Parts: sequence; C-alpha cells; structure tokens
Amino acid sequence: MTMTNNRIVSGMRPTGRLHLGHYFGVLVNWVRIQENNECYFFVADWHAMTSEYSDPRRIQGFVPELVKDWVAAGLDPEKCVIFHQSQVKEHAELHLILSMLTPLGWLERNPTYKELRQELIQKELNTYGFLGYPVLMASDILMYKPSLVPVGQDQLPHLELAREIARRFNFLNGEHFPEPQAMLTEDAKLPGLDGRKMSKSYNNGIFLGEPMEEVLPKIMSMLTDKNRLRKADPGDPEICNLYPYHKLLTDSDKCAEIEEGCRNASWGCVNCKKLLAESMARFLEPMQERRRKMDENPDLVWQILAEGTAKARAKAAQNMEEIREKIGFKF
Ligand code: TRP
Repeated sequence: MTMTNNRIVSGMRPTGRLHLGHYFGVLVNWVRIQENNECYFFVADWHAMTSEYSDPRRIQGFVPELVKDWVAAGLDPEKCVIFHQSQVKEHAELHLILSMLTPLGWLERNPTYKELRQELIQKELNTYGFLGYPVLMASDILMYKPSLVPVGQDQLPHLELAREIARRFNFLNGEHFPEPQAMLTEDAKLPGLDGRKMSKSYNNGIFLGEPMEEVLPKIMSMLTDKNRLRKADPGDPEICNLYPYHKLLTDSDKCAEIEEGCRNASWGCVNCKKLLAESMARFLEPMQERRRKMDENPDLVWQILAEGTAKARAKAAQNMEEIREKIGFKF
C-alpha cells in the first residue's frame, strides 16, 4: 500500500553513528515515505541535551554525522525537509507555552519517566528539562500539524502525551492542533552480529556506509547455528544469525536455495558467509558512495541542514503567528 499526501514529522537524537539496525528499523520507512508525502525529519539536539547537558558541545559534533548517515541511507533533501531542531527557535517558544498548560501529573505518570526514576537520581537526570522531555517533543510535532508521526514502540507514551496536550490546548483556546497519529515502526528485523539486539553499547553492529574491509571480518566471525559443528551436519536457518541478514539482503530465490542447502547439509557456513559478503557489498555500495561525496565536501552537509532549517523555520513561524493570535499574545 502506498501512502500519499500526509504531512509527517519525526526526529532522532544525535548520539552516535547509525548502524543497520537503525536502517531496517527506522530509516527504510523514512526513505519510503519521503516519496509521496510532505516529510520533516530533524536532528533533535535539544532532546539530546536533556541527558547530555554536562557536555553539550559533544552533541553538536554528532549533528553533521547524523545528517550524513541519513543522506547515505537515501534521504533526499530534494524530497524531504532535513532540519536542525535548535536552529528553529519557535520550538522553544511553543515548548514554553505548552508547558504552562501541561499538568505535572501527566509527566510524572509517563511510563518512561517512571521506569527511569531510580536511574534518574544516580545519573543526575532529576532535572526540570528531563521531566519536560515529552512537552518539547509535543512542540516539535504540533508545530507542523502532521497527521502521522513515525516512532518506535518506546515512544508511544510520548506521542499519547502530545495528543493530550493538543486536546487541552484546543479546549482552552479553541480548535487549532489536529491530533497526530503514531505510525508504528516495526520491531527490528535484524539481530546484531552476536545474536543480541544490534546496539552501539554491545559493539555488534555494521555501520551505515562502513567500508567493506571492515565489514568482511565482522561477517566472517558471525555466529551461525551453534548445533552445526561440521559441514556434514544438517543446520537450521531459523536459529542461525546469518539467515535474517540473507532474508533482507539476498534475493529470495537464492535464499530458498540456501535454506534447503543448510537443512540438507549440502551448503556450508563459510560459503554462506561469502555469499552474504557479496550481498552486503552490493547493499552498502550506494551508501558508501553517498557518504564519500559528503565527506569530500564538508560544506555539503551544512548546506543541506541550512536549507532544510530555513524551510522548517518558515512553516514554524507561520504556525507560531497563528498560535500567538489564538492565545491573544500577538501584537
Ligand atoms: N524522542 C525521540 C527518540 O528518542 C526523538 C524525538 C524528539 C522525536 N522529538 C520527536 C521523534 C518528535 C518523533 C517526533 O527517538
């Protein structure tokens, strides 16, 4: 089903390099929906600051890297708006206004916040800004009056709060914000190289646009069906770490062949890894190419951000005018 003519907003915090888990979890969707919808994708640097406030400069170092990863993955600045949250000051103004009408109880009840409560004190996250994380997120979203917000499961409580805040604003000031719907990102289809969730902290990922020289040893050391000790033993693709990668990267006829060969012990794990390396090289090549272009011309990424930010700002400024008028603060 192709989805068309929706306004869509989503963001990511700049906290490090993206890997294939991010690609198959989130970015494939973004790349797909940029085609026939009006999309706003932004670098949520103010959100990163809620937890990384002790070293805010570090966050800014990740900003251009995140945009490079997005472009490498296939986001096209001609087709979607890519912008820098902290450079659209209207988000801060709307955050302030919405914070006035958000009851504390809604924020304290937020499951994500409740879960983190103990950790918060240890990590010194027991701050006003961190509690207000969902209010800032509500302003990012409501600023563009989108119909859809692509997010993972963990963000659903935040989105629900954004809807409640919209409703409360509308109740107090008259109808203004449509209630955005979540567009749920599917669960990760790709395990990490060691079978656990692909994650930066486990160091078990393949990065977007990573050179093949670095990827190859990672593939060759991947775990396969641990019960298959010799090539002559029949294997089970369902418990092999490689197979989910083949399903995403190798064409389906070949996958059927591999599955058959693994089960009847005619096809070995080393062959399987070599074949995956070929599929991976084919898949990563356009990403590496796009990343190379960005690395060769460091101005490019800033140019993309500046142009996208100007577009987002124009949209935000217009809505802020209407919001100020709605609350009687326009002079
Ligand atoms: N909280 C989101 C995350 O951690 C990032 C984010 C900030 C966001 N503002 C947003 C996502 C607005 C969607 C819409 O992934």
